[in-house]
Amino acid sequence: MTIIVTGGAGFIGSNFIFHMLGKYPDYRIVCLDKLTYAGNLSTLEPVMENPNFRFVKMDICDREGVYGLFEEEHPDIVVNFAAESHVDRSIEDPEIFLRTNILGTQVLMDACRKYGITRYHQVSTDEVYGDLPLDRPDLMFTEETPIHTSSPYSAAKASADLMVQAYHRTFGLPATISRCSNNYGPYHFPEKLIPLMIANALNDKPLPVYGEGLNVRDWLYVEDHCKAIDLIIHKGRVGEVYNIGGHNEMRNIDIVKIICKALGKPESLITYVTDRKGHDMRYAIDPTKIHNELGWLPETKFVDGIQKTIDWYLNNRTWWETIISGEYQDYYEKMYGNR
Ligand code: NAD
Ligand code: TYD
Repeated sequence: MTIIVTGGAGFIGSNFIFHMLGKYPDYRIVCLDKLTYAGNLSTLEPVMENPNFRFVKMDICDREGVYGLFEEEHPDIVVNFAAESHVDRSIEDPEIFLRTNILGTQVLMDACRKYGITRYHQVSTDEVYGDLPLDRPDLMFTEETPIHTSSPYSAAKASADLMVQAYHRTFGLPATISRCSNNYGPYHFPEKLIPLMIANALNDKPLPVYGEGLNVRDWLYVEDHCKAIDLIIHKGRVGEVYNIGGHNEMRNIDIVKIICKALGKPESLITYVTDRKGHDMRYAIDPTKIHNELGWLPETKFVDGIQKTIDWYLNNRTWWETIISGEYQDYYEKMYGNR
């Protein structure tokens, strides 16, 4: 079994590679990653010497390169994590989001059609459903919830989902889609809420909370997401969408306070800053389908997952300090300097 994992030098893709190489010692995993600002080869160091692992630096939009890789590797399965993934960046500059998230997906699917695969899996997001109101806790996203996007990021991810469904229906591509809620855990790039707050708190820097911090996200430990994708690519029904969520809704401000407490830092570091444009209020996943069909349930409780995550950032300072000392500084100044 050979699996091409795109975007495997990023947060969730790298965790997925570790999960798969650990669980299936006979599988060959080929990571295809462009190494954008979000990709980090040092993350994959623990598996670089594994004879069943290969890293290829490549853009998923590079049709010739992707076709060449398919000719060499004859993959059985493709799992597409590669994407521009940060909502704030999509608000600053949408174009690369359309290119990578939509056109890149198309190139991968064309390669799958040309060379033949048993499964193409698209890693999508709950953000394609838009947001839910805070005063309707009974409402949740199911797979039947209409697509209703807010940001250029979510619009690009939704467009890719529609193309995957079109390729399945029109060309019979054996595809599945998963739509997951917010992940947290090791190797999360420090521009996202949880790692940004941990890094800033450790450096006694202000903790920039957008708006009033009342927005709600449904947080899932990254390993649980990887296990869900593992189940879907092996046992999920072709042509189907599966929602993945932690049943763990939390307000941003509460998460930031938990991080302060765990690190022994004062809440006076919290600074309320200008809200994100078009900021989605609440995400909440109903994961009944994947539970009933594939037996998946989140295993990590938030209280344990956040402690593991904080410990990881404490024990792996070089990983994130190297990131935030580079071009990330310019990004931070641009996004938060005058906010
Ligand atoms: P990330 O930003 O940490 O990693 C993205 C990876 O993709 C990086 O390694 C980057 O180098 C690579 N990449 C970007 N453009 C590429 C291109 N053109 N060609 C090849 N590689 C390219 O993202 P993540 O948080 O790990 O998210 C992975 C996937 O999961 C994305 O598709 C995202 O939409 C989805 N998702 C993320 C979350 C979350 O909470 N992080 C939740 C649901 C879904
Ligand atoms: P983020 O990690 O960017 O994920 P997403 O926007 O995809 O859900 O943000 C999570 C929440 O945290 C979101 O409501 C925006 C908020 N947020 C802040 O309040 N401050 C920050 O500095 C960041 C990065 C996010």
